[in-house]
Amino acid sequence: MKTELLTKLNEHLRLEFRAAHEYLAMSIWLSAHDLPGFSAWMRQQSSDELGHANRVIEHLLERNQPVKLPAIPEPPTDWPDPVALVAHVLRNEQEVTASISALYEAAGQAGDRAAQIMLQWFVNEQMEEESSARALLGRLRLAGSTGLGLLLVDQELATGNVPGAATAKNAPQ
Ligand SMILES: [Fe+2]
Ligand SMILES: [Fe+2]
Repeated sequence: MKTELLTKLNEHLRLEFRAAHEYLAMSIWLSAHDLPGFSAWMRQQSSDELGHANRVIEHLLERNQPVKLPAIPEPPTDWPDPVALVAHVLRNEQEVTASISALYEAAGQAGDRAAQIMLQWFVNEQMEEESSARALLGRLRLAGSTGLGLLLVDQELATGNVPGAATAKNAPQ
């Protein structure tokens, strides 16, 4: 693998681990704020992010490339409200999407077909992740900051899906 692409893939791990860590902190905050469905959904997001990091790690290992695990920054412990928390998620996801786009571009320039195919899964996944965050932000804004509105969104999230978000896994698993 070309050194530049290898470095970028290793650097990308930091974003996936940071997201996993922040979403776990959010899940804890949500649980403490009596939103168990929302908390469980966020805990699943955290575990998905670890899965993303592992996909990159597996790709590097299969190709006998070095893996350098990053330091993970300490996550925040508090958010003003659920809307601010999900706005934070959306910003994270947009940052990850930009990093995946840059990686896909770099893999193309390096003529690295295997890396491009691995990254294609992430391109689709990021569309879905941004769609969920945007849809959830919309639901929370509609619900307002009342207890009843939040309870409704919490019940929706207990099903595991955000209404209105793209959920079809159109990429190979
Ligand atoms: Fe991710
Ligand atoms: Fe994500």
